[in-house]
Amino acid sequence: MAVSAVPVGGSAQVKDPATGDAVYLVQPTAGQYCAFSSVCTHSGCAVDAPKNGQMYCPCHGSKFDAATGAVINGPATKPLPKYAVTKEGDKLNLGPLQA
Ligand code: FES
Repeated sequence: MAVSAVPVGGSAQVKDPATGDAVYLVQPTAGQYCAFSSVCTHSGCAVDAPKNGQMYCPCHGSKFDAATGAVINGPATKPLPKYAVTKEGDKLNLGPLQA
């Protein structure tokens, strides 16, 4: 993934090579990259791409913070799984899931 594909406040969709699940790569503040699983922690629906700093699940209305993955609005109670992201030159690489 090219660094330029993920603007500050924006996102790009990649895939977890292990599960095939969609992952949103984000740059919440300049130079800070991380990624979140798109699989809602409520019942497993796919959450929408980050918008206005939040990720919304269309199934039951959960909202997650697009910078931390934390729950803003239930019914979900657990944050979205977070991935490490490393930057190598002008490329971003999806790292492992973080505990
Ligand atoms: S599956 Fe996302 S809110 Fe229910």
